[in-house]
Parts: sequence; C-alpha cells; structure tokens
Amino acid sequence: MGEHGVIRRYRRFLPVSEDTPVISLNEGGTPLIEAPGIVSKLGGDFHLFVKYEGLNPTASFKDRGMTLAVSKAAERGARIVACASTGNTSASAAAYAARAGMRCLVLIPEGKIAYGKMAQALIHGAQTLEIRGNFDDALEIVRELGKREDVEVVNSINPYRIQGQKTASFEVCDALGEAPDMHFLPVGNAGNITAYWMGYKEYREGGNSSKLPRMMGWQAEGAAPIVLGAPVERPETVATAIRIGNPASWEHAVNAATESSGAIDMVSDEEILDAQRMLARTAGIFVEPASAAGIAGIVKSHSRGDIPNGSTVVVTVTGHGLKDPGVAVENSLAESTVVDADLDSVLAAIGLV
Ligand code: F0G
Repeated sequence: MGEHGVIRRYRRFLPVSEDTPVISLNEGGTPLIEAPGIVSKLGGDFHLFVKYEGLNPTASFKDRGMTLAVSKAAERGARIVACASTGNTSASAAAYAARAGMRCLVLIPEGKIAYGKMAQALIHGAQTLEIRGNFDDALEIVRELGKREDVEVVNSINPYRIQGQKTASFEVCDALGEAPDMHFLPVGNAGNITAYWMGYKEYREGGNSSKLPRMMGWQAEGAAPIVLGAPVERPETVATAIRIGNPASWEHAVNAATESSGAIDMVSDEEILDAQRMLARTAGIFVEPASAAGIAGIVKSHSRGDIPNGSTVVVTVTGHGLKDPGVAVENSLAESTVVDADLDSVLAAIGLV
C-alpha cells in the first residue's frame, strides 16, 4: 500500500482525471479487525471482522466520500461546500474544505449532534448553523442552496460521495482475499449501504472477487422509515448520527438489500447501547452509538439463527466512540472513584487490602 488516500489508491475505479486536484487527508486504509471474542460470547460459529472506520482522519467513514466530493468541487471551481448533517458529514466537510481553502457551511439539527462533532465543525472554521428542525429539514434547505452555481452540496446526494465510499468494499475484499458472506452496517440517510453494494458489484465485475455478500442494514427503532415503509415525521434515537426520518438513498438501500438477498431491519436504543458496551469490553473497539447498530444487528440475526455456521461476516463500525463522550460515559455503567494519594487508599479502594 504505497499510495495514500482513496483517490490515489483506487483511481482506476473513480471518476477522476489528470486535471482533478487531489484534496486528501490520507483517508481509507482502515483496519479490518477479527473479533472472535464477540462470536464466542454469542456462542456462534462464524468468522467476524470489524471494519474500523473510526480510524479515518476525521474519525468516521465520511472521509472516503468527502475526499472525492471536495476534489471534484475544487476541480469545477465551486467556492462553498455545504451540507446538512447529523454531525459526521459536517465534521468531514469542514476538514476537507479547510484543506482545499474553500468556505464550508453546515446545517445541523439544534442540540442533536454529539459534542465531538460540534467541536470538529467549529475548529475547522465551518460556518455552523443549528436549525430549529431535524436532519431531514436541513437537507431540504441544502438541496435548495445547491441550485446556486457557487455552492457544492457534499451530502450523499452528491454522486461523488457514494463513489468514494465504495472503496471500503474494495479494502474489505483486498484484506480477506474475497468478499464476505454477509456485511452488516448501520443505515441512516442510506448512502453507505448503497456505496458498499456498488463497490462489491464493481469489484466482482472487475475480477477482483468472485462472490457478493448479503447486505444487512440496521436502522434505530425510533428512526426506521425503511423498515416501516413510510417516512418518520419525528425520528428519535440515542444514536443521533442515524436520527433520520426520510433517507435520501431510500430506494438504493432497498435495492441493495433485495438484490443481495439481505435485509434492512431495526434495533432498539437499548440493543444499540448494549452492543456499544459489548464491543468496547469484548473486542477493545470504541464506537459511537450509531456504529453499534450493526453490532446489535449481528446479535439479533444470530439469535434468530440467520447467520449460517462457518460464514465470514464483516461489520462496518462507522464512527469513533470519542465523537460522543457523553453517551459513552453514561453507557459505561461504571464510574471513577476519588481516593487519597497514597498506596493504602488505592489498595482499599480496589479491595486488595
Ligand atoms: N454511522 C454514522 C456514525 C453516521 O454518521 C451515519 C450517517 C451513518 C452511520 C449512516 O450512514 O447515512 O450513509 O446511511 N451520518 C450522516 C451525517 C447522516 O450527517 O453525518 P448513511
């Protein structure tokens, strides 16, 4: 892997030319980590690999698509990049716009994005507007803004975002030497499941893999429009990143599940939080709540007998746990203890007297 960043590494699969400036933070190349501890804990008989996308430059998978969207925006001479976001797209857009020397405008739902993500938008100098509404309202406004010539919308309705994000499938196949049997991931605005499916299909067509995984997408119960078959007016979930009631890539997501004999299903907030804690304690991997939806999906699928013995299963964990420290501290069900600064006090506190 001599080349850094998804545009340089996967140029032949991407809509770029010699004239495209490469705006990159060396995204991609994230580890695929085997997690046998979780499988034993579930009493399962399959091989589980975690694609840890929290290790991208802005700590989520969004960077894969953002490098391409911002590079293409720069190529056509756009001056402003804009997005609606539940927090991670805005963090990524802010960083890549800063790198490109472009203005960035982000619209986020008031009071509903995690603290770390707010910090990212602000420190990278994005103009940050909290709207009195939810993500779906923000996206509608951004679609209108995108009609202006000088504005480039970098939500996943921008086709370059999906193109960039599909490189994650390539990396999974490269790491395993073949596509997995099942691929689990959270679903919010539904761009990522669309991108993975596109990537798996292209890689097979190119002769780089010989099979296709079943795509298993997971929404949060309070924000599960695809599962319910109708938009959700007031989506609610602890997993704020996927608090979305009317996903932009709805049909593509349904297609991915149908074509691959997979499914789009839902998990409760409690299942999400249990999965976040289990992943942290059993595999040593810290993810934000939305990212744990795919893990919760594995727990649910396994309990229903939906994961055949001997399968190779990949789960994408989409964002780093440090993005949302508030929920993590609460969900740890643990607390720190203050003691005097001497050995006896420490030994007493841990019960080793
Ligand atoms: N996981 C995380 C951590 C996310 O931030 C998102 C989406 C998803 C999963 C769902 O991915 O939308 O492609 O289905 N976050 C967007 C944002 C909406 O604004 O950051 P999706």
